Amino acid sequence: MDKIRVIGGRRLEGSVEISGAKNAALPAMAASLLTTDILYLENIPYVRDILTCRKLLQQIGIDAEVRENGTAELRAAEIRSHEAPYELVKTMRAAILVLGPMLARWKKARVSLPGGCAIGARPVNLHIMGLERMGARCDVVHGYIEASAEGLHGSYILMDTVTVTGTENLMMAATLAEGETILDNAACEPEISDLAGLLRSMGARIDGDGTRTIRIEGVKELHGCRHRIIPDRIEAGTFAVAAAITRGDVKVCNCDPQHLAAVLAQLGQTGAEIVMEPDSFRVRGSEPILSRNVTTQPYPAFPTDMQAQYMALMTQGDGTSVITETIFENRFMHALEMIRMGADITIDGRQAIIKGGKPLTGARVLASDLRASASLVLAALVAQGETWIDRVYHLDRGYYHIEEKLARLGANIERIV
Ligand code: EPU
Repeated sequence: MDKIRVIGGRRLEGSVEISGAKNAALPAMAASLLTTDILYLENIPYVRDILTCRKLLQQIGIDAEVRENGTAELRAAEIRSHEAPYELVKTMRAAILVLGPMLARWKKARVSLPGGCAIGARPVNLHIMGLERMGARCDVVHGYIEASAEGLHGSYILMDTVTVTGTENLMMAATLAEGETILDNAACEPEISDLAGLLRSMGARIDGDGTRTIRIEGVKELHGCRHRIIPDRIEAGTFAVAAAITRGDVKVCNCDPQHLAAVLAQLGQTGAEIVMEPDSFRVRGSEPILSRNVTTQPYPAFPTDMQAQYMALMTQGDGTSVITETIFENRFMHALEMIRMGADITIDGRQAIIKGGKPLTGARVLASDLRASASLVLAALVAQGETWIDRVYHLDRGYYHIEEKLARLGANIERIV
């Protein structure tokens, strides 16, 4: 199994290109189920979750081509299976995104219920509740959601928790439902607006995306289109922290700094100097790094997907900081590995208390999820000596050649196969 070896102590300098957003590309690929026409997608990141999604769509019977240059062509003329099997859903929960579109177009779908995961219970009750409000029948049988509908109809759907893929699933289903659907307390992450933009280009009638209330007027059918996926704000944020933690100077290119406003403001509070341009930003790290508290919240606040990386930064802070995680109940597994590297972190329920200023030392570490892996790479960049990061497949799920991008900025990092 691949490993990543990092020898810490190098200051990062230069510029880095950001790939397309995994979490926008996955729903966009699922949206191909809504039409018989070809969907042409650009700026798709060639990462493992995308390849898992391609495999899922191919098993369903879709012509799905995804290329390393970021282009994809997807055509769901007809399908041979209504199923998202457990083997694929257990490796990628976002597979649940085929439920809404498949039900809307073929009136039935069978999708494995994702189990618990490394960061929390992550139920999908709101996806099911919303589809039921639109007239579907959903039963859980043998670990699968078995959904069917005579035809979906519009409905008022209030979600009591903000859910990103839940909003996406219901928005896709509603495009082909009869009448108007209102999604209330909807997620307003940039990935939602990217999907809404794609669906509009396919002929859907949607407005309000980017706010907490989205209205969708169902149409009879959707058609193909060409769509460019937004840049990955979490990859961009990860490189921003890489610059700050190494007291480096990095220009993060091909991204939308507005999507990272909360993250860049937070880094600014820790002393980093941030200069924003329309499609790039520059981070110059500070000495000392100031310890500052943060709380994760739905967009536009500080994202849970940047919490682990920010924790790595706070291990180098000048005092004590508190990180409060409000989205997932078990997303501090990386802290235990950072402690093995010498960090002083105490976990108290949903809070992590980090006493900064402790020098980190390289160790063998392993991570339990994608962003945790990224945070360990960041910690390794400033640790004394060698760090070996195991289970690199987590990183490969969402980062395109992260070790090559970091090496080009001057990090001493390599993948050992
Ligand atoms: N929730 C429910 N019921 C539901 C759905 C969600 O209670 O039916 C709860 C979850 O348990 C959680 C909260 O709502 O406590 C938010 O979860 P959400 O549904 O928004 O998460 P998700 O849609 O499964 C997406 C991203 C995650 C990201 C979260 C939060 C994709 C494919 N995944 O997950 O990304 O952490 O939103 O922003 O878009 C990652 O990329 O590393 C990653 C985990």
